[in-house]
Amino acid sequence: MSSDRAPFSVLFVCLGNICRSPAAEIIFTHMARERGIAERIAIDSAGTIGYHQGAPPDARMTAALTKKGYDVFGASRQIVADDLTRFDWIVTMDQQNFRNVCELDTHQKHVGKVRPFVGFCREHEVKDVPDPYYGGTRGFDFVIELLEDGCAAMLDELEKRV
Ligand code: 4NP
Repeated sequence: MSSDRAPFSVLFVCLGNICRSPAAEIIFTHMARERGIAERIAIDSAGTIGYHQGAPPDARMTAALTKKGYDVFGASRQIVADDLTRFDWIVTMDQQNFRNVCELDTHQKHVGKVRPFVGFCREHEVKDVPDPYYGGTRGFDFVIELLEDGCAAMLDELEKRV
């Protein structure tokens, strides 16, 4: 993925980059393809920790996404400070991720780029995309429901810009 040539670029960020942010990347990519604008948006995801570096999406998230017809891809990576320069939007899954990404922006040069994902949601009023890692299957399905809501709204906004 290169964020350097596309007219717009989006990086989704969670903690481990094996559940929420790869699912956001997969759903957003799927929806952007359906709208015919995927080539015009560079899309990636990352985690604030590097613990799962190189790992594919979590098996439970993979099962939940596959059940809904999404093709699953991705390998976990940790966010680096340069991502703040390279991407137009850095979209965080929860308030802790938001704070951690803002901490990488040591000179506050990219403040407006860091956007909480839930701020895009239209059908759900929640504070965070909840971390499903230590919960049951329903948590993964709920994360997908939130992601579908917010990704559709993001694309409605981007369709006018790319
Ligand atoms: P994610 O979920 O941030 O949505 O990828 C998690 C993945 C791994 C861990 C926690 C949350 N972990 O503690 O390893």
